[in-house]
Amino acid sequence: MDTNFITRSKWKTYADLLTRPSWTAFVTAWNAKDANASLNLPVTSNNFKDLVHGIHAGKDRTTPLADARFFQNTLTLLDFTKVGFPGILKSCETCHNAGTYGAPAANALASTYEANNGTLASPADVAAALGTVPNTSDRITTPYAAACVSCHDSSVAQAHMGGIQGVGGNGGQIKVLRSAMVTPPGAAETCALCHGPGGIVDVAKVHSK
Ligand code: HEC
Ligand code: HEC
Ligand code: HEC
Repeated sequence: MDTNFITRSKWKTYADLLTRPSWTAFVTAWNAKDANASLNLPVTSNNFKDLVHGIHAGKDRTTPLADARFFQNTLTLLDFTKVGFPGILKSCETCHNAGTYGAPAANALASTYEANNGTLASPADVAAALGTVPNTSDRITTPYAAACVSCHDSSVAQAHMGGIQGVGGNGGQIKVLRSAMVTPPGAAETCALCHGPGGIVDVAKVHSK
């Protein structure tokens, strides 16, 4: 129970974990062997680009991904503050083919961060909300911003993309209510103008410097 399944390293102490304040409730629930301990962690998207970028960005993120799974009666904490990428993170072509990662696919959906039907008081409510996605009160991130913010999560970078939970000048929407999303998803995102192929800060070029 006290082993990180990725690093195989033992946690020093639970007190160590408590130094991350937002985890206090989680650790209390964990110590109580509460199967719902993970409900105290911030939600994260399991949408593949958000999740895989977020995992591999590991400790490089301003706020590294944290997640927990309760599976086969075992609670596993996934703490990416302890994980480094065994390669060059900005080398997109470690995973992507050339020419395929400059922008999200046309018609890409927004990433769902939190399924929320307005009532999230118990685990059963969470399951019900997951069953009725899309809900107007889900939290979503628009497609282009989602691809980038999954690594570039500093508040300055988020403000550049569009503002945390808002629509700023560049049109990215990060963790906004689905009811506030500009439709179709990403319609307001102007990122490709500068970051698309041939733009002044072409994604392929900035990451190959
Ligand atoms: C560890 C592997 C990995 C690395 C490294 C990686 N990506 Fe990704 N990326 C993914 C996965 C997985 C997806 C989701 C693919 C899917 O859903 O079909 C994705 C999706 C994307 C998408 C959306 C593409 C689409 O078709 O909608 C963009 C844009 C993107 N990545 C940009 C980047 C950039 C820029 C870099 C380098 C700075 C990068 N990625 C590095 C794994 C990676
Ligand atoms: C897999 C993680 C990852 C993804 C996804 C990613 N980047 Fe980066 N990006 C990096 C890393 C690492 C660097 C280099 C930072 C450094 O050298 O300090 C970088 C550098 C940059 C730079 C150069 C300025 C700087 O901060 O060094 C820009 C601009 C940039 N990225 C834009 C984007 C955009 C736009 C997207 C989305 C399409 C994106 N990135 C997606 C990891 C990523
Ligand atoms: C008008 C041009 C322009 C538009 C539009 C634009 N960007 Fe940028 N972006 C830039 C420039 C310039 C930089 C700084 C590059 C550098 O430092 O080398 C930057 C930097 C970034 C970075 C790197 C931040 C970091 O951590 O250093 C990310 C990520 C990014 N943009 C994502 C986006 C996204 C997502 C959108 C759309 C929602 C967007 N940008 C729209 C010009 C633009």
